[in-house]
Amino acid sequence: METSNAPATEPSLTITHDGPGGCPVLHGFEPLEPAQIADPAAVTAFSRREVPVFFSPALGAYIVTSYAHAVKVVTDWKAFGRAPFIDREMPEELRDVLPEGFVTAAITNWNDPANHTRLRKLAQVPFVRQNARDAAELCRRVADETIEEFRSAGEADLIPAFARKVPMRLILAILGLDRAREHDLHRWVVGVMRMMGDPTVTDADMVAMGRDQADFRRFTLGAIEERRRNPRGEGDFLTDLITATSDDGEPSLSDDEIFAAVLLSIIAGGDTTVNLIAQLVTRMLDRDGALWREADADRTLIDGMIEEELRYDHVGRLVYRTCNVATEIGGVAIPAGAVVAVHLWSTGRDEAVFESAEVFDPRRPDVARHLGFGRGAYSCMGSALARVETRQAIEALLDGLPNAWKVPGHEVRRVFSTAIQSVLDGLVVGWDVPEPAGTNA
Ligand code: HEM
Repeated sequence: METSNAPATEPSLTITHDGPGGCPVLHGFEPLEPAQIADPAAVTAFSRREVPVFFSPALGAYIVTSYAHAVKVVTDWKAFGRAPFIDREMPEELRDVLPEGFVTAAITNWNDPANHTRLRKLAQVPFVRQNARDAAELCRRVADETIEEFRSAGEADLIPAFARKVPMRLILAILGLDRAREHDLHRWVVGVMRMMGDPTVTDADMVAMGRDQADFRRFTLGAIEERRRNPRGEGDFLTDLITATSDDGEPSLSDDEIFAAVLLSIIAGGDTTVNLIAQLVTRMLDRDGALWREADADRTLIDGMIEEELRYDHVGRLVYRTCNVATEIGGVAIPAGAVVAVHLWSTGRDEAVFESAEVFDPRRPDVARHLGFGRGAYSCMGSALARVETRQAIEALLDGLPNAWKVPGHEVRRVFSTAIQSVLDGLVVGWDVPEPAGTNA
């Protein structure tokens, strides 16, 4: 059991009632401030205690920080549909390059319930068909191969060398796409996310990223076409997406929708899983590697550690919804059309649900009760895969990097991520490299 550091001192926080319709505003909640993104503990504790639903002028959204209210928002999909990402004016130069427009329309979770239900029913077919044992074997193979690239060095920054590579390589392997294009894919996907969600991009950036997106589209459509000609049978992700039909006669996915499903899998399973692996390895190596040694001695602990990481320090921060009908949460009136942001990180620290929420305890009885993968109609389609992947990644590290330690003098930092706001960077680790056989004096 690990006790958290003393909570950061509360920033200066005050509540006024001058939000829309006189609703509460929490001053001092700065969701775009790097320091608060990196450590939202103090401000969210205050909010859960004093004002669990409030309006944030900075985001133009109602923020929900308590577990119970969050469950209401994410499960009541009739009242709370998916919020669109920033709508972008397409620069003139891109009209010929991306004649079909940005991909937002076909991305499942950017759709309102009616269309979302249809898209999700079809897009989840390959996730449902995935065989857990095959997925575990594939994850382990990808993790082992990645470790092999740097193992003999005895020291590496595990975030670029491992945590960033494994999720991308795994999804490429699952999709049957060419691993040699991993750097292109990374650039393309980062560009798509910035186009959709980063208000700081300039028109010139947009044009460059739009061209990249066109390349990505061509590459993926080429793979879809190839798979239509040579289907690989049930259990192959892309084949399953292409052949998915639903019992109620819904039309199958169009190429554009398959492209969007591929893109979403790469985006949604990207920085989220990178951060989960990076955060958990960091925590395991903290305090002189106490958790690392515990997990090494008892591998059954790893699943609990993964769940507890998702609760204790959720890898993302906010998920958004649009309010479809005027309603009320926690005594705060929410008008139709308003944007509501659920603070997933905060829900994991809710003392009303998790006893000793400030303590990291992988053995807690309710360890999987967190909302780390969301809940309800829009919940994570890749949760099973993410769990298997992280488990295999950790096991591969335990086996491949004996007696690992954090190399002193290097600090783990948090850097901005368009996808999930904040991602770890810089985890320099050393380990024992066994002498090659026959080198003993
Ligand atoms: C630690 C890793 C992951 C975390 C913490 C995570 C978390 C989430 C959350 C919280 C949502 C719901 C967002 C909402 O309510 O609006 C979501 C949605 C989704 N996730 Fe994940 N995810 C992870 C990994 C993955 C992976 C590996 C994949 C696929 C390869 C994936 C695919 C998806 C998809 C497709 C959706 C959209 C569901 C929909 O539109 O209905 N995720 N994820």
